[in-house]
Amino acid sequence: MPLKIAVVVGSLRAESFNRKLAGALTRLPAASGHRFSFADIGALPLYNQDDDSDQPAAAKALKALVSSSDGVLFVTPEYNRSMPGVLKNAIDHGSRPYGESCWAGKPAGVIGTSPGKPATSMAQQHLRNVLAYLDMPTLGQPEAFVQWSDDLLAEDGSASQASAEFLNGWMEAFVDLVEVHVPGD
Ligand code: FNR
Repeated sequence: MPLKIAVVVGSLRAESFNRKLAGALTRLPAASGHRFSFADIGALPLYNQDDDSDQPAAAKALKALVSSSDGVLFVTPEYNRSMPGVLKNAIDHGSRPYGESCWAGKPAGVIGTSPGKPATSMAQQHLRNVLAYLDMPTLGQPEAFVQWSDDLLAEDGSASQASAEFLNGWMEAFVDLVEVHVPGD
């Protein structure tokens, strides 16, 4: 069954490695036939609870995207041993007003890359904590702490020979998780 997946990249950097990884993930064989839509979290203002009764247009757009999706793919760098503030800001926007979270029940995958050896492990662990609170069933295994290197992706932006098998296995597991959680007829 074709799935609709919202992709949330935790970096706004123009040449973001994580955005490149996210693009490569959507081109894997295991992603074929499914639709991936990237959220524009850079358009979000800083979350302010005063605005809950009239959320900013960018927050409404994020919530509409996630609400209409079968699952959410988070691809994030690590900033100072946690998730970047822009990602947490997006999550907070989507979680409010109270009782109207777009995240609840949506299956999630967490993956990320950085040039350093820890390879986003702490950021992912903090993100998992937040997703658990938000009631998002999250892929536990395989974990994917991807150390960025120039040979991770091919020239055309797809996964290279060195990374394709591992990344495709991860994507297969994520798609399986989302399928399990798609509401039945
Ligand atoms: C980093 N970086 C980083 N890397 C890491 O492995 N652990 C960390 O805690 C941090 N902390 C950190 C803080 C800040 C403010 C910046 C700007 C960077 C390095 C980071 O992994 C690297 O810049 C990546 O390239 C960021 O991901 P994108 O933007 O390429 O997707």
